Amino acid sequence: MSKKTILTAEKVSKTYSNGSKKTRVLEQIDLQVEEGEFLAITGRSGSGKSTLLYILSLLDRPSEGRIIFQNCDTGAFSDKKDARCRLYNFGFVFQNYALLPELTALGNVMLSVVECRSDWSTVREESIDDRSDRRDE
Ligand SMILES: Nc1ncnc2c1ncn2[C@@H]1O[C@H](COP(=O)(O)OP(=O)(O)OP(=O)(O)O)[C@@H](O)[C@H]1O
Ligand SMILES: [Mg+2]
Repeated sequence: MSKKTILTAEKVSKTYSNGSKKTRVLEQIDLQVEEGEFLAITGRSGSGKSTLLYILSLLDRPSEGRIIFQNCDTGAFSDKKDARCRLYNFGFVFQNYALLPELTALGNVMLSVVECRSDWSTVREESIDDRSDRRDE
């Protein structure tokens, strides 16, 4: 059975600019991810693993090159379309946690599920209540 490519990086480069200081982090990365494939990106600290993952998951944009997701060139996506694509297609465990402090652990995990079901306010309330209940114990 032929494999289906779901995510492609084509000649992806990334340069961070901080004032006049420019840091070239990724240089012409080509990568293809097939459906069902389990892939590990390894490298020394500072080699650009997180930067590449941010770009592959549409959290950040490449300075050059393209990300193709399910045959769509994401370079043309608006920020809103990026966000919807992430919501429905990507899971991400951040290195620096990026949790919402006013929510419980469960609330944080459920955030994307709830967003998909447009039922956020109820779960948000429940999650905050649950947290204050536990503080009283
Ligand atoms: N927002 C930024 N602005 C400027 N430089 C950055 C920025 N983010 C990352 N860098 C730099 O880019 C390089 C790659 O960082 P990155 O976090 O992608 O590496 P990493 O491989 O994930 O490292 P680690 O294994 O420590 O998590 C590092 O030199 C880092 O200092
Ligand atoms: Mg990292």
